[in-house]
Amino acid sequence: MLVSAKEMLEKARDGKYAVGQFNINNLEWTKSILLTAEELKSPVILGVSEGAGKYMTGFKTVAAMVKAMIEELGITVPVALHLDHGTYEGCYKCIEAGFSSIMFDGSHYPIDENVAKTQELVKICAEKGMSLEAEVGSIGGEEDGVVGLGECADPAECKRIAELGVDMLAAGIGNIHGQYPENWPGLRFDVLEAVKKEVGNMPLVLHGGTGIPEDMIKKAISLGVAKINVNTECQLAFAAATRKYIEAGKDQQGKGFDPRKLLAPGAEAIKETVKEKMELFGSVGKA
Ligand code: 13P
Repeated sequence: MLVSAKEMLEKARDGKYAVGQFNINNLEWTKSILLTAEELKSPVILGVSEGAGKYMTGFKTVAAMVKAMIEELGITVPVALHLDHGTYEGCYKCIEAGFSSIMFDGSHYPIDENVAKTQELVKICAEKGMSLEAEVGSIGGEEDGVVGLGECADPAECKRIAELGVDMLAAGIGNIHGQYPENWPGLRFDVLEAVKKEVGNMPLVLHGGTGIPEDMIKKAISLGVAKINVNTECQLAFAAATRKYIEAGKDQQGKGFDPRKLLAPGAEAIKETVKEKMELFGSVGKA
């Protein structure tokens, strides 16, 4: 069922686990993630970046595919279709396309503008029964050409945004999109605690879930993180499995070149990655 992320995240916050947001790029990605969530009886959030949306020919195509796939695969667990790092314009496109959740990433605007735009979207999302994620402090790394310097969130600014009535808040705490460099100092739990103090019960979102050590994930969940985003790790798993298949020459044996065969090892690898993450985040059996 396509639902807003609000209820699943409030349950996760209260139950001290996190729901995974797994970004999708195409049909195989979507199918692997949905089937794994169903198998593990876990709620799930499908993340769509603006770049991935464009790649899939537009947000309407994505929404139609996801809705039809939920029906045709008989998926019964709660699924949210969520715009990841949305621009102001992208948010409106996804509202129109039938997404159930959006992230407005206003972190690069001056805080007053971030507040004004977020406030406007809070009202529309409430009317449509959609959930809204806001961001304060940028997430480091590069995603779809948007480069964040990774500055930590200011807890006072988090309070201002949280008070607008958003459903979840992404606060930069030293997390980075993509793989972490060897000299990465780790998550800033002092910042997370300070943010938590200011925003009270608001479910917090941890971006850059790829490669964060397990103990840090668990600690972040214990401090109020209820949603964790994972993208790169599925891409790496898909690429490695595809490489192995090709390097073994399997695409040249029989009908191994058939895309349904060629893409199968990658699709299976995504399932395995999603399963590991759901187990680590504690969302298994929580649907
Ligand atoms: P990773 O690609 O580092 O897993 O981050 C995903 C993310 O935060 C999407 O918003």
